[in-house]
Amino acid sequence: MTGVSRDRTPGLDVAFHLHSQTNPQQLKAQGPAVIERGEGVRIFDSSGKEFIDGMSGLWCASLGFGNKRLAEVIYEHSKRIGYYHTFFSRTSHEVSLLAEELATRSLIENAHVYFATSGSEANETMVKLAWVYHTVRGNPGKRKVISRRKSFHGSTIAAASMCGLQTMHREFALPIPGFLHVSFPDMYRGMDDGETAEQYSDRLAAELELMIVREGADTVAAFIAEPIMAGAGVVAPPQDYFRKIKAVLDKYDVLLLDDEIVTGFARTGNWFGRQTTNMQPHMMALAKGLTSSYFPMSAVVMAPEIYEAVAEFNKSGSFFGHGFTNSGHPVGAAVALECLKIYEEMDVVPHVRAMGERLKSHLREIAAGSSIVGDIRGVGLMFGIELVNDKDTKAPFAPAFGAGFKCDTFSVENGLVARATGDCLVLAPPLVVTEADVDEIAERFGKALKQFQASIGR
Ligand SMILES: Cc1ncc(COP(=O)(O)O)c(C=O)c1O
Repeated sequence: MTGVSRDRTPGLDVAFHLHSQTNPQQLKAQGPAVIERGEGVRIFDSSGKEFIDGMSGLWCASLGFGNKRLAEVIYEHSKRIGYYHTFFSRTSHEVSLLAEELATRSLIENAHVYFATSGSEANETMVKLAWVYHTVRGNPGKRKVISRRKSFHGSTIAAASMCGLQTMHREFALPIPGFLHVSFPDMYRGMDDGETAEQYSDRLAAELELMIVREGADTVAAFIAEPIMAGAGVVAPPQDYFRKIKAVLDKYDVLLLDDEIVTGFARTGNWFGRQTTNMQPHMMALAKGLTSSYFPMSAVVMAPEIYEAVAEFNKSGSFFGHGFTNSGHPVGAAVALECLKIYEEMDVVPHVRAMGERLKSHLREIAAGSSIVGDIRGVGLMFGIELVNDKDTKAPFAPAFGAGFKCDTFSVENGLVARATGDCLVLAPPLVVTEADVDEIAERFGKALKQFQASIGR
């Protein structure tokens, strides 16, 4: 708004705005950080200070900030129509084209695509579709959903129930009944002494099987997993983990739901995380990189048997009883198509692999010279840097000490936005990073880490 003093923003924000994932008392005491503009991998706050956003916002702004081409697409399509929906057989050219693009890229043969607005909605849609699928096949009792501890799947009630995080449950007395959690594959801390990766996968698959059998296979609908767990601190499974998990799921007719909301669109150095981790899902949830978050849009890609179940259920003429006002928004679809075009033009997969390798080798060098970096992990352009009190024993810092948050503060002071998930610092920069950007991210991070170490006498 022109003519309104920007100096009022912090006061207005504290007075009127309830923030996501923010401590209200801290916000009142310190005020918000006002972010004003962005350019490529950089953002600028209201004082003009520049930061590299090493997290692409929330793992989403894959094409960086202030992208003019995406802005033009939004302007042109808004001028032309601005909004229309996809209820009652309505569609647009952009939505149909995008459905084709996503279906053919997904690696699910003869797939159909459903559109929604957020990642949470896409994940919840997958659960509802799993319920329809089992009902049509004569198994309406198959309702339960299994996910993994420490996983993140969203904030709406069922999506939050699928999260394996106490922080997403405690205020709301979640999870709701029927949402269960098993161990996640933690190659840094979870493996027994002398256990091979294959034995570890077997053990995790056996734990899942035991849960399905105990609950009753006739009550379990689906298992949902991120190919690589983002919010858990960039946790990748052993190579054969999903193959072994899938064998258990197939044995008990439990669907595999792939939450690609972070890992989709080249984040892991393949078009989809499922390729990086050998996952063979029945459905995939897409968001974030789909539109680089320039427009709130998500999608579910489903195997033909899921689509056919919906058709079968409604064969007597009823409508599929699901839909969001902004499902298949034509402006969002146009933005997504432009993103796909840009990803192709920049040859995104090899670019991400090359930039990721460069960043990883910098991070390894930093870790080698540090007494508190216990683990560097990640693939493509998503990395976790785990801070520990003792590198040899992997003993963590006391949780109350907040090593991750403290180190993160030094990072921000050095002009790098990272993210602390516990004592793991995460980096997932926009996919448009250049070699010079990568070098600068590493330099800023290395400086911040040294300053944090000095501050604690390490
Ligand atoms: C893996 C994963 N799934 C689902 C979501 C939820 O997406 P949204 O916040 O758009 O609902 C997120 C958000 O960060 C995510 O990281």
